[in-house]
Amino acid sequence: MPKLAERMRRAKPSAIMVIAEKAKRLKAEGRDIISFSIGVPNFLPGDHVYAAASAALKHDSGQYGSNRGADALLDAFLEHLRAIGLDGYTRNHCATGIGAKQVLYNLYEALLNEGDSIVFPTPYWTSYLDIAEIVGARVQLLPCGPEQNYKLLPAQLDAALASKPRVFLFNNPSNPTGMVYSQTEIAALADVLLGHPETWIITDDIYNRMVFDGVGYHNFVQIHPPLRERVIFMDSLSKTYGMPGWRVGFMAGPEIVAKALTTLNSNHITNLPEVTTAAAIAALSGPQDVPLARCAEFQQKRDLVLAALNAIPGVVCPRPQGAFYVFPDISLAFGKSHNGQRIDSDVDLCAALLEAKGVACVPGSAFGEPRALRISYTCPTPQLAPGMQRIQQFFAELV
Ligand SMILES: Cc1ncc(COP(=O)(O)O)c(C=O)c1O
Repeated sequence: MPKLAERMRRAKPSAIMVIAEKAKRLKAEGRDIISFSIGVPNFLPGDHVYAAASAALKHDSGQYGSNRGADALLDAFLEHLRAIGLDGYTRNHCATGIGAKQVLYNLYEALLNEGDSIVFPTPYWTSYLDIAEIVGARVQLLPCGPEQNYKLLPAQLDAALASKPRVFLFNNPSNPTGMVYSQTEIAALADVLLGHPETWIITDDIYNRMVFDGVGYHNFVQIHPPLRERVIFMDSLSKTYGMPGWRVGFMAGPEIVAKALTTLNSNHITNLPEVTTAAAIAALSGPQDVPLARCAEFQQKRDLVLAALNAIPGVVCPRPQGAFYVFPDISLAFGKSHNGQRIDSDVDLCAALLEAKGVACVPGSAFGEPRALRISYTCPTPQLAPGMQRIQQFFAELV
């Protein structure tokens, strides 16, 4: 039998999906499962989005679309950029993709030769590493543990960029930690970036409209406009608008990069579907009450989850200020047992928690931080408090 390509030895299925699948299976077997595992927003977009999609169905052009993205969609995205303080971009600086994940895949293809280095902080979103392995990039990880609030420090960045990596990848607000960088923190990192002109900067900011406590969203380009020559901003409709399955992602950055992504699109996806495009324009340009209300609700849920975690002696949880994740350090459990089952790792703990209490969380090692686990708190509100109580009971029963 012929063989698969070498790169498929390096490709692996998402660790998060493995847990989510197990939780689903147990649920199907009749178990009472509360899932904090998968990062879906768990709400639907406003009615105007569906109305735009059905109107588009009635006016199907019957043609292929633009490889970059329809002009009207690019214009709606440019308006969104201006609203979050990113001025001066034109359609030529932008490109779309089938979700931010495909935009990211394209960016790796466009910027990294095999063997080139990409640098990013841990904890990281799983695909950062998985895609690097597929395209054969060398990964340099910058450990940012709970003791530094899971945030990258300027000196760490400066030291890492001294070796002139091809790409620095940054994520704010963060999946899996929910941490958000303040304006001062972004400014300090932007100062460092100015001094390393050989490195591209990808800033994956798809949760930019999900920021709590009035801290606001800040970006390197706002601090130092000359960085726009090297900064590639990524965005998505998935989380903000409750549209993960619609698959709409964007980038804004140097024209040469946007053009490269357009060329790559022309060789695989060709274009975003017309119906999706219409829905995306409506989401970006229409009433924003759904995302605003959901963001306020997530902040309340964050408060509930954090209070429950802080009540568990020994669990340390830096305070997230965005997205919909918390990432507690649960390493106090290592070396202990639950119902006679020994817990030596985050994976053991998540397995025991699912088995004993029916609560699904993702082990931190999936994100490069084996001392932690990720709780995604987008489940229906009535499940949240009982789920957190089960976690509290689990820790209380450790011996
Ligand atoms: C940080 C981050 N970037 C990108 C993505 C991909 O988003 P999309 O659904 O647009 O592909 C996700 C999804 O979980 C994410 O958390």
